[in-house]
Amino acid sequence: MNNRDIAALTDKYVTRTYARIPIALVRGKGAKVWDADGKEYLDFLAGIAVNNLGHCHPAIVRAIRQQSQKLLHVSNLYHILPQSDLASELCRHSFADRVFFCNSGAEANEAAFKLARRYGLEKLAGKYEIISTHNSFHGRTLATLTATGQEKIRAGYDPLPTGFRQVPYNDLSAVEEAIDEKKTVGILVEPIQAEGGINVPDEGYLRGLRELCDQRGILLIFDEVQTGMGRTGKLFAYEHSGIKPDIMTLAKALGGGLPLGAMLAREDIANSFGPGSHASTFGGNPVACSAGLIVMHTLLHGGALKNCVKMGKYFVEGLEALKKRFSFIREIRGEGLILGVELEIDGNKIAEACLQEGLLLNCTAYKVLRFVPPLIIKKNEIDRGLDILEKVLARQ
Ligand SMILES: Cc1ncc(COP(=O)(O)O)c(C=O)c1O
Repeated sequence: MNNRDIAALTDKYVTRTYARIPIALVRGKGAKVWDADGKEYLDFLAGIAVNNLGHCHPAIVRAIRQQSQKLLHVSNLYHILPQSDLASELCRHSFADRVFFCNSGAEANEAAFKLARRYGLEKLAGKYEIISTHNSFHGRTLATLTATGQEKIRAGYDPLPTGFRQVPYNDLSAVEEAIDEKKTVGILVEPIQAEGGINVPDEGYLRGLRELCDQRGILLIFDEVQTGMGRTGKLFAYEHSGIKPDIMTLAKALGGGLPLGAMLAREDIANSFGPGSHASTFGGNPVACSAGLIVMHTLLHGGALKNCVKMGKYFVEGLEALKKRFSFIREIRGEGLILGVELEIDGNKIAEACLQEGLLLNCTAYKVLRFVPPLIIKKNEIDRGLDILEKVLARQ
């Protein structure tokens, strides 16, 4: 089947929730993917920050193959070795003591909300409200879209759950004012807002949130669904800030391309979850966790974090050179290999033109080109991507 046949099948039978680009990707290797017509693309989107080790990394494929020959699935009524192993690795390399596994970023955030509410009930006199930020993105379930600070995501789903409110991002006094002594149980932020336009907060913002939470005795929750697993050059983005959250959520790159989410918490908080308080049939599935273990191992020992920092800097240098040449580039921001180029013109048109030239990226927040290539990207691939971008920008 070619691109057109596959698109026709999708259009006929799949719900219309995505404005899909009319190509079907059928094969990938490293930072390259191929569509059903055989056209090659350089992938600077990586499944939106999922394929951090590139497409079909041999060690991930091997781990999936080996585990799938032993056991595909068992219930969480039993112990599951790859799940226990991955939980132990995540705790060993983070602030956390315990992990709840699920299948997506939204579910990881749902788990965080539920844990915060249980903790609020047990330890904080029934506090339940979560403060999040404008322009944030936390998922598409009813609770996570309510926490999401974007009207377009919430539209049409009233009545929404209660217990959530938003304040401007990167504004400590707004958070301070919004904290309700009787209601607020925690503050939820992305260390870098991803879907909201690659917004990097000022130095001191995350530290300030930590101090506020400590003073008020409430929880600091970091949504690292997109920034986690090496994307910023450290395993978790919070490591750049010198402070630690109380709860952190992960998904996207965690399962190496398989659906896997996780909610990590400190022991005293995680203790508010007991048997029966939360669950997920597929959460912590043995195959997904085997892939996750390899992702962790390869990130920590395979040089991907170092490469992310080095290539991130190299990429920014190239983008800065383009900024000098094209006056409609307003700003370049990000950390490691989560980079945004804010334009004064429509970014969707640029992304479409890049696709025609064989470069995959996307536009977020209307005017921000988002680059989240695999962390194993090579210099010559960045050069090629920049060449394509330059060619497309020169036509504007
Ligand atoms: C920061 C953040 N949180 C949560 C989510 C939701 O993740 P999922 O689509 O896996 O539910 C996303 C997805 O883009 C995200 O970027």
